[in-house]
Amino acid sequence: MVATPGVQRGLEDVVALESRICFIDGVRGRLIYQGYDIRDLAAQSTFEEVAYLLWYGRLPTAAQLADLKTRFGTLRTLPPPLVERIESMPLESTPMDVLRTSVSALALFEPDETKPGESSIGGAQRLTAALPTILGTFHRRRTGRAPLRARPELSQAAYLLYALLDRDPTELEARAVDVALILHADHELNASTFAARVTASTLSDLYSAVTSAVGTLKGPLHGGANERVMDLLNEIGTPELCETVVKDKLAKHERIMGFGHRVYKVEDPRATILREWSRKVGEAKGNLRYYELLRRVEEVVHREKGLYPNVDLYSGSIYSLLDLPHDLFTPIFAASRVAGWTAHVLEEYQDLRLIRPTAKYVGAVDLTYVPLAERG
Ligand code: CMC
Repeated sequence: MVATPGVQRGLEDVVALESRICFIDGVRGRLIYQGYDIRDLAAQSTFEEVAYLLWYGRLPTAAQLADLKTRFGTLRTLPPPLVERIESMPLESTPMDVLRTSVSALALFEPDETKPGESSIGGAQRLTAALPTILGTFHRRRTGRAPLRARPELSQAAYLLYALLDRDPTELEARAVDVALILHADHELNASTFAARVTASTLSDLYSAVTSAVGTLKGPLHGGANERVMDLLNEIGTPELCETVVKDKLAKHERIMGFGHRVYKVEDPRATILREWSRKVGEAKGNLRYYELLRRVEEVVHREKGLYPNVDLYSGSIYSLLDLPHDLFTPIFAASRVAGWTAHVLEEYQDLRLIRPTAKYVGAVDLTYVPLAERG
């Protein structure tokens, strides 16, 4: 559809609000959380530190971090009736549907957390701690594995892997996922964060906002591109076929997943970091196949279209090397982005303004009402 003058379809380039949480410098390829460069955070911090940073606007002290980790350990346990509900969901449900329904259901058991306002920080921590448990509970059930335990001694990344794989991850595996969680934790007003803020701007509660966000992330135009990157690698099969398959797709005007970005005009800094982690994990597993194929795909796409990789190009290869099934990739994204969603909701509550754009009406007016009995 061609846009009518004055209509910003998709709200492209519309600056809707002020925020201190996340800055994307699309020209220089920088991503900043609360003032800190993502490269420093990925090299030196943990997901727990980043979640604290997003919520409170400053890095935690050692004592504050220890306190947050203890809270996560406690908050991982779900109310038993919710565990029963998750265990009775159809086994063929998608994990994103399970997540959306369970986030909404969790609110029923947390009446004190559902009041919008300052106290929502408790709900932010509760949701961030609970998402891996929700996913693990469902995934273990559908794969016939034993129920999980809260394992308060594990970091969020290690716990997520333990919940999904039913084994303790190695240090390298846990760190690879920790870095992925840091890199996915926020990205300014992406569609799911905007959905969360729209919900919060009506003074609705945090759980409703995060339910909106999970439903929005589910769409393949937002979450999900990394799953499709792995489909492409499977289709390519061997490095020799890379050039032919990619060129053929480009000739048919198909999109190559994991490339291009609305905001970054250069390489997405998250892709640079994940490329290195894909190599590291590949080396540790003695399997550099995905890494090498992706390097070839990058070469061809850049030569043919001048496009750069985005965050989704390498993340799926890391998850696949960890034996995580494709339908868990977007839920893992959610288990990280929940920190950003909730930080934005807290910010919205502090500077609340109902988000309510207008539409340009292009329909009819002044039609004459015809009574039902007279309509042919
Ligand atoms: N493969 C092939 N061609 C592409 C691609 C791609 N991945 N991305 C853009 N193009 C082409 C597009 O066909 C168009 O070419 P032409 O001018 O010849 O018609 C040109 O580049 C501009 O495309 P556009 O859709 O106007 O660009 P955009 O900046 O609005 O698109 C995008 C951004 C992410 C929707 C798009 O690059 C895309 O579809 N990428 C593949 C899906 C993907 O990897 N999504 C994950 C995005 S990162 C997630 C996050 O940041 O949270």
